[in-house]
Amino acid sequence: MDNNIPKHVAIIMDGNGRWATNRGLKRSEGHKQGSKTLEKLAIYAINSGVKYLSVYAFSTDNFKRTKEEVDYLMNLFILMFKTKFKKIDKENIKVVFSGRKEPLNKDVLEAMNIITEKTKNNTKGTLNICLNYGGQEEIVDASKKIIEDVNDGKVNAQDIDKELFYKYLYQDLPPIDLLIRTSGEYRVSNFMLYQMSYSEFYFTDVLFPDFDENEFNKAIDSFNSRERRFGKNK
Ligand code: IPE
Ligand code: IPE
Ligand code: MG
Repeated sequence: MDNNIPKHVAIIMDGNGRWATNRGLKRSEGHKQGSKTLEKLAIYAINSGVKYLSVYAFSTDNFKRTKEEVDYLMNLFILMFKTKFKKIDKENIKVVFSGRKEPLNKDVLEAMNIITEKTKNNTKGTLNICLNYGGQEEIVDASKKIIEDVNDGKVNAQDIDKELFYKYLYQDLPPIDLLIRTSGEYRVSNFMLYQMSYSEFYFTDVLFPDFDENEFNKAIDSFNSRERRFGKNK
């Protein structure tokens, strides 16, 4: 692998349901397998030098799924954050969350707090888990916070620019360098709209549970073959 490792990688972890259905299993089995893939991948990516890894775990719109699937996912999150993420902590990875609290239930919020607290002083890299997350919602919520600060006299409306706006997003993260979406879908599904303005996109047909270290390296190699211009001449 080339040693130019992107600082901020984001992954739309898609295809869990199809992975399971293809095997004659329940969709929930795909989510369970996806959670194992996530744990391994986060450790691998951050040990490879990625400083920020953002992952789309559950969108605000995913609440429109069946109650059975939503309940399964919420319980899986609780299990992951309360017990399964021990290795993430041991690997010195800090876990943060992006998204709205409402309407997550208190058990999920408690599990999120536990892993956040446990890992808050970890320094090797940050795993940003987008849970009950929407990109437009994030921009709306940031705008409301800025308006509050302007009204309180803490910020001058004239001083609002795109750098300052970053500070009002759910987490203070740098722009996304590389955005990966698995499962052959070519859309962003309301992921990190503000942070992806100059991201390189990598799409693969591989379903998320099968997205292993080798597949990750292919994405990094592809990133390294791109020429980023940021609007400048060649
Ligand atoms: C992604 O896999 C995980 C979540 C959205 C929680 P999907 O559940 O969307 O899997 P497909 O797209 O139905 O295969
Ligand atoms: C996006 O995947 C959300 C997550 C990966 C958590 P979806 O499967 O919900 O997206 P659509 O419905 O195909 O656009
Ligand atoms: Mg999907």
